[in-house]
Amino acid sequence: MATECHPYKDPSKIKVSTQIVNIQPLSQPVDLGVGPATFSPEVEAEIDRHLAKYPVMRSAILPLMFIVQRERGYLDPPGVLYLANRLKLRVTDIWEVATFYSMIHTDPIGKYHIQICRTLSCKIRGAGKITEHCVQKLGIKPGETTADGRFTLSEVECLGSCGTAPMLQINFDYHEDLTPEKVDQILNALP
Ligand code: FES
Repeated sequence: MATECHPYKDPSKIKVSTQIVNIQPLSQPVDLGVGPATFSPEVEAEIDRHLAKYPVMRSAILPLMFIVQRERGYLDPPGVLYLANRLKLRVTDIWEVATFYSMIHTDPIGKYHIQICRTLSCKIRGAGKITEHCVQKLGIKPGETTADGRFTLSEVECLGSCGTAPMLQINFDYHEDLTPEKVDQILNALP
């Protein structure tokens, strides 16, 4: 008796939906108590360039979020409203994405965002000691910002540098094979 080939073994049998889900904005706009953010013509042009890359506008949500965050320091309510209007999405659609990624901040953060990896390789190679050292040195716990607005401390999941554990990221830079002494050197050298 012939048995039907499982679709995953025969890619020609996989049915791909071509239907685009059209999410309508809410009939009643959400009142955030603020107006949408505004940006310079240069930033608007940068946003237009990103939008032009995608056939479906909502696909540009992350690049646009990074721009709004860069311009405003974090994704504040006017920034969220701007994105919802620009991408023709609901505020909740923007919020769902913003709160999923540790790279997107929905609260103000310090000039230097210290993100310590706490996943397995870093954990067994002493991430806990690194976190404890930063807590003692900066006088803040993970999730907090120093009173002078200079440092925000976070613990995050694997940053893909497991071979050089323990490691942390400060803004866009990786620092690897850490010891408490090395952390001191790194933090003391920041301008
Ligand atoms: S476990 Fe720390 S970078 Fe992967």
